[in-house]
Amino acid sequence: MTKLAIIGGTGLTQMPDLKIIKRDQITTPYGSPSAEYITGELNHTEVVFLARHGNPHSIPPHKINYRANIWGLKELGVEEVIAVAAVGGIAEDMAPAHIAIPDQIIDYTYGRNHTFFEDDNDAVTHIDFTYPYSQKLRSRLITAAAQANIKITPLGTYGCKQGPRLETSAEIRRMERDGCDLVGMTGMPEAALAKELNMDYATIAVVANWAAGKTEGEITMAEIEQHLHKGMANAAEIVKAFIALSSN
Ligand code: HPA
Repeated sequence: MTKLAIIGGTGLTQMPDLKIIKRDQITTPYGSPSAEYITGELNHTEVVFLARHGNPHSIPPHKINYRANIWGLKELGVEEVIAVAAVGGIAEDMAPAHIAIPDQIIDYTYGRNHTFFEDDNDAVTHIDFTYPYSQKLRSRLITAAAQANIKITPLGTYGCKQGPRLETSAEIRRMERDGCDLVGMTGMPEAALAKELNMDYATIAVVANWAAGKTEGEITMAEIEQHLHKGMANAAEIVKAFIALSSN
């Protein structure tokens, strides 16, 4: 099987049922990744796990060293990346605890180190980003969700905001006009960096809360944690079903 990695987001700092084989602390030309890379067995298949926000969860979205994280995965020989990410729900079907496999991204972030191709001596390189996620990986994740009996939305546009604050309701209305179905803070530049290094990358987006202004009142961390708990358990089931399918 192609070497697979899982990047766990908020609510998935450790991969349930992973039988740990080894831990790698890697230093990259871009600095240190968020945490050590944990190689383990899931359903008798070797996978690499990385906690995006560190373990324990301590690195906010705008401070994550995305380049180091992705570079380290490449160094470990990873070819496919499943990124698990908590998001806010904008579209009507994106209720808390729901899962989507987005097919598009709009990047609203700024000031992040977002490319490996920035040295003056590098050849000018423009990766194609028409389809930011691997279609092949997405369709296998969609099949895996069906096998696991978990209802998901098989597409959607993920809008990536800078954070760490949540959005204003006017910002969410603007994102809705832009065509965003989901809002998160970590999808970019992660997806583009994976593509720059030729890795297949797809996201399991787990809705933690209705986005700002989509319900009465304010968003609380308690609400986010409660929904994430259920959503992340389902995301882990999809990953397991994905591995079972891939090793057949
Ligand atoms: N906005 C941005 N990122 C998020 C949200 C949100 O409402 N919920 C979880 N991650």
